[in-house]
Amino acid sequence: MIKPTPPVVRDDLPHIGAGLRFAQSPTGYLRELRAEYGDVFLVDVFGYRLFCVFSPRALQSLYAVAEEDASFGMATFDMMGFKTPLEIFADADIDLFYELLTVERVRGYLPAFNQVLAMELERWGTNGELDVFDAIRTLEQRIGFSVWMGAEAADDDYWPQFKAAFDVLSQENAFVNPQATLHTLVSNKAEERKALAQLHELLASIIDQREQTSHWPEDTLTLLYQRFSNPDQAVHRRKLVHNLVNANQGFLSNLYAAISWVLINACRYPQHGQRLTAEFQATREQFGDNFSEQQEALDSMRFCEQMLMESTRFAQRSLTLRKVLREIPFDCGDHSYTLSPGIYIATMLSVTNTQTSELSRFDPDHYDGRRLKPELVALGKETVSTFGHGRHACPAQKFSHNMCKVVLSGLFGRYTFSELTGDLAPSAQQMGGVARTAGPTRLCYTSI
Ligand code: HEM
Repeated sequence: MIKPTPPVVRDDLPHIGAGLRFAQSPTGYLRELRAEYGDVFLVDVFGYRLFCVFSPRALQSLYAVAEEDASFGMATFDMMGFKTPLEIFADADIDLFYELLTVERVRGYLPAFNQVLAMELERWGTNGELDVFDAIRTLEQRIGFSVWMGAEAADDDYWPQFKAAFDVLSQENAFVNPQATLHTLVSNKAEERKALAQLHELLASIIDQREQTSHWPEDTLTLLYQRFSNPDQAVHRRKLVHNLVNANQGFLSNLYAAISWVLINACRYPQHGQRLTAEFQATREQFGDNFSEQQEALDSMRFCEQMLMESTRFAQRSLTLRKVLREIPFDCGDHSYTLSPGIYIATMLSVTNTQTSELSRFDPDHYDGRRLKPELVALGKETVSTFGHGRHACPAQKFSHNMCKVVLSGLFGRYTFSELTGDLAPSAQQMGGVARTAGPTRLCYTSI
């Protein structure tokens, strides 16, 4: 229940009609509804009542709402619960991300970023053709295995097996492929549970090895092994594995697509590509050949930050949701509404991120480093979002910029790129996270 009643989207087929149109093109459909119903309206998507907000004041209210009133955690659980075995959520601790993403830890991940990048580029060889999103996704996955589960997990013996299991658990297609989602539901997540069992086995073999040799390097696996220590070995292992799975999944959700877009945009717009490579060269000259292992060197690379922010702004398809847990007032500017439990307050970043004529133009100079120029969001900073706003804003922003800088400087330090072909637009179907393209995007590379 919402009081007073906002504009309500009518459809001939209650729940389902809007649901099907939403699944086909969430951004396109919400844009159409906004044009017809205004900046605030209620739409029923497969039984989920979405109170959609796009006005500056309402967006401010969304990002300011308290977790105990309207919950990010519960909304995420509802969306991801279709696919992810629920036992993972029961053990996963969101605060862990904050612990793993402190400035000191983020700096400490740089050697692993560089080592795995070198291994992966060795695999790419001297020349070839990339399917950009798949190649960068695999690269990021492998770096993540090393950062979260130990250097062993990125070795040839392990990483393809980890990748196969994590690909089954991937949320990416959960909403854009209704048939696959139906299979997941009807089978009671049989494939996903099998993949989780495989991850338990793979991690057990790394942990057993460390226990037997008493070799515990200073890394995330060791930290979490100690953190979830429990007299009951089964509970210890379960909590450890579930938190590692959660860390890997959260890590993969946006970043690989954002880095892929930076690579694509650097090749698509030669003037930006040249500025980027000039920045890499200048940083190398100032800080030496191992600049990509030094936090200070990475911090100085502001144009790369601008490329990541602008590329993300364009490809963001995040459906931002808060599930109302108790009756709350919600200020939308022209009206203040009372929202009942069960309603989802919703906005979709792609509907507002490019809504003015200036914002519909790709230009990395819209940003000053990571900061969007204030004149572009005169009505309110919440009208554009890349890494979010307020209490749930992304804690991995520095981490993500670091990875983008290490990967892109590594790629441009080793290869020249040519013949960008294929799909160059964010997938219309994507809902959630930074979008990849619907079809393959190809790029040829040759050693310098
Ligand atoms: C380009 C890369 C990324 C982008 C654009 C991005 C974007 C976002 C956005 C928009 C939110 C806020 C969601 C909301 O308000 O509903 C968010 C939250 C979050 N992100 Fe990211 N993210 C990125 C990378 C990452 C990575 C690499 C990790 C993990 C290592 C991560 C972990 C998280 C977590 C844990 C939250 C929830 C924070 C909380 O609830 O307090 N993100 N991210």
